[in-house]
Amino acid sequence: MQVKGTLYLPGDKSISHRAIMLSSIANGKSTIRNLNDGADLQSTINVLKACGAKIDSKNETIIIEGVDLISPNKKLDCGNSGTTTRLISGLLSSQKLDFTLVGDSSLSSRPMKRIIIPLQEMGCDISSNDNLLPLTIDAKEGTQSIDYKIPVASAQVKSCILLAALGADNPSIIHENILTRDHTEIMLNNMGATISILDKSINVRPLENKLNPINITIPSDPSSAAFFAAMAVINDNSELTLNNVLLNKTRIGFIDVLEKMNCNLSINNKQLNNGEKTGDITFSTSALTSIEIESKIIPSIIDEIPILAVVAAYSNGITIFRNVEELKYKECDRLHAIIHNLNAFGINAYEKEDCLFVEGGKPKKLAKITTFHDHRIAMAFTIMSLASFGKYHLDNKDCIDISLPNFFNLIDKVAE
Ligand code: S3P
Repeated sequence: MQVKGTLYLPGDKSISHRAIMLSSIANGKSTIRNLNDGADLQSTINVLKACGAKIDSKNETIIIEGVDLISPNKKLDCGNSGTTTRLISGLLSSQKLDFTLVGDSSLSSRPMKRIIIPLQEMGCDISSNDNLLPLTIDAKEGTQSIDYKIPVASAQVKSCILLAALGADNPSIIHENILTRDHTEIMLNNMGATISILDKSINVRPLENKLNPINITIPSDPSSAAFFAAMAVINDNSELTLNNVLLNKTRIGFIDVLEKMNCNLSINNKQLNNGEKTGDITFSTSALTSIEIESKIIPSIIDEIPILAVVAAYSNGITIFRNVEELKYKECDRLHAIIHNLNAFGINAYEKEDCLFVEGGKPKKLAKITTFHDHRIAMAFTIMSLASFGKYHLDNKDCIDISLPNFFNLIDKVAE
């Protein structure tokens, strides 16, 4: 297969969630273009509408009229979305609401203690199913400020606390061990909140006035771009340009990793859009070398590890991903899912002491892809199967709708 052409991908999923949430409580009308069109975003929109948010769309532009959100009269269904669950918990707490969050079976097995502990410390009354969903949060009495060191590298946990802190009685401080994606901080700053960052500590003041509305075109999602980048890199005679991709440094670890693996790529047309960097990236066929990826890089590639593990299978040695325990708590146990599928395609891959080892050598046999109902596992191994065998068999195609419903049409546009 050859890959040629240019793609403009849908908006970044993380920024899309934040734009919808913060616009819903802003003072006036926000407009959002190139919103991520996946099912996770629909979960966030439905949850907010159930709390009184005014969200409409006109000619592919989302228009949100900020309101005072109200406690919902039904359970809030977060579907498959961890970002919806954890960020909404903080946002609705800041608005002094009382609500219950539920989700699908994957989401119902993901850890919520990481947000329960800080939200309880801030004064929320919380009950859960042994630290899993359903989660009932009563923040009617308001929230107190917090000085909190986050024990896991998680932007969802950080954002949950940041959002809750907007409604607290005093300024809060949040400390991270390793920097994670900072879209909440950037957007809050752009919308007029008082937030300052010093090294890995964030100070945020409660809102004295409502946030200003935003007018934003969401940059293309680098996590989606990574699948197409890999396609160009592992197929022969290929060159692909991805336009207007988000280049926030906390998200483009996969570009650094690919560069270290000797990948041919160039970045042009760099711009700044609502505080976020963007650019056009061209990837082409590359002779890849294996590398060792240190633990401090992991948060900046956390969602790209499935496709980077696929790329590593086309390199010339053993690639090591250090300290990838967090992979176990994603939409499925991704560490297990990656190893299972690589092995099924005849690639030697294994886990040792929370590290993932992938031995290069290209797939040796066509296998049915076991998705574990996880969109990123499905897309990563579809790219591998197509590159090596020109076809694929997936046990669940629909899960791809979570972040990139157009995945197969986009492939058709550039695959020859
Ligand atoms: C996200 C943060 C990450 C990432 C997820 C989106 C976000 O999760 O895996 O897809 O938008 O904040 P964690 O914060 O749990 O690592």
